[in-house]
Amino acid sequence: MDYSPGLRGVIAGETEISTVGMEGTSLRYRGYDAIELTKSHTYEDVASLIIDDSLDGKLFKETFSKHYEELLRDEALLNLINNLKINLHPMDVLRTAISYIGQADESNKLDAASKITAISCIAIASYDNEPTSELNNDFVVASSLLPNTASKEQLEALDDMLILYAEHGFNASTFAARVTASTRSDLTSAIVSGVGTLKGELHGGANEAAVELINSFDTPENAEKGVHKLFEEKKKIMGFGHGVYKIQDPRSPVVKSWVEMLSKTNESINRYEIAKKVDEIMDSEKNLFPNVDFYGGLLLSELGFAVDLFTPLFVTGRSVGWSAHYFEQRKQDTLIRPAAKYTGIQER
Ligand SMILES: CC(C)(COP(=O)(O)OP(=O)(O)OC[C@H]1O[C@@H](n2cnc3c(N)ncnc32)[C@H](O)[C@@H]1OP(=O)(O)O)[C@@H](O)C(=O)NCCC(=O)NCCS
Repeated sequence: MDYSPGLRGVIAGETEISTVGMEGTSLRYRGYDAIELTKSHTYEDVASLIIDDSLDGKLFKETFSKHYEELLRDEALLNLINNLKINLHPMDVLRTAISYIGQADESNKLDAASKITAISCIAIASYDNEPTSELNNDFVVASSLLPNTASKEQLEALDDMLILYAEHGFNASTFAARVTASTRSDLTSAIVSGVGTLKGELHGGANEAAVELINSFDTPENAEKGVHKLFEEKKKIMGFGHGVYKIQDPRSPVVKSWVEMLSKTNESINRYEIAKKVDEIMDSEKNLFPNVDFYGGLLLSELGFAVDLFTPLFVTGRSVGWSAHYFEQRKQDTLIRPAAKYTGIQER
């Protein structure tokens, strides 16, 4: 058998959920262009599409709100989150908070998936402000994550970000979730596998590293010098390049235009200028394009989130993709068990 390091290019399963990078740059959820969906639909509609093949998000909204309100009254959960927060990274808090619900009732896919989304929202919202009990009916999930004073533009921007995070084929965390599902394990366990895998900086954690890089420069001129220094040190610039897209990440322009629209203070305009300078150098000197995480981190920061909450927000968005893959893999009922190329001593 041929061996491909990192399984690059290997078809490791069948899916009806999405296509990534077909026609060079497109991302489609069950045949719908994801970028078009950001203009015409909400995250709840897209969540329902990804999990249940229906673009009507009414049921997802209802079940999300029900779980959100119930979990918000769950003192044991809130105490658990508050205790974990003292010493752990928010991703570790989130991973454990999700475990708290144990085995979800999987008889209704949207109900089970929306419960996972709700618990991630509560864990994130418990950081900056008290989780709100007033959800906006148009942007239910996004409003659970932002303060009540958030503008319509801010809600829409976060809603788009969640849509773009929602699903992305057989990426590392989704594959991890599918491997767990393939053993006939349960939904919560599959999601926890996904969270642990998303945490690494080559995957979800790239948005945190990208913003930290941008924040480390005070002017576009210094950014230029700093990026050249990183080139000399042969370091990777987080938020650039992609394992599947080779020309452009179609999600990046949507996110970039939100950053441009929301950057109003001098400080945020300067950070946007710095980011554009890094982008320009990566393009002209390395022929590498920004992925969703480069401007994504900046957008989340513009929306008021602390850097260590970026990957948890990615979890919220991606929880519906992981859930859809979990249900698909359970239906296929094939144990994932690849072979390894042995490189050790033959006999001793
Ligand atoms: C995402 C990623 C792992 C894709 O990897 P890949 O398709 O296997 O690409 P490779 O790692 O083989 O890179 C190909 C070349 O481009 C370079 N390259 C890729 N991404 C780079 C980056 N972000 N900064 C600098 N150089 C990069 C590699 O060093 C390699 O150069 P080489 O041929 O001289 O060794 C890689 O681009 C990366 O590490 N990016 C930064 C992390 C990130 O943003 N992750 C989020 C993904 S959504």
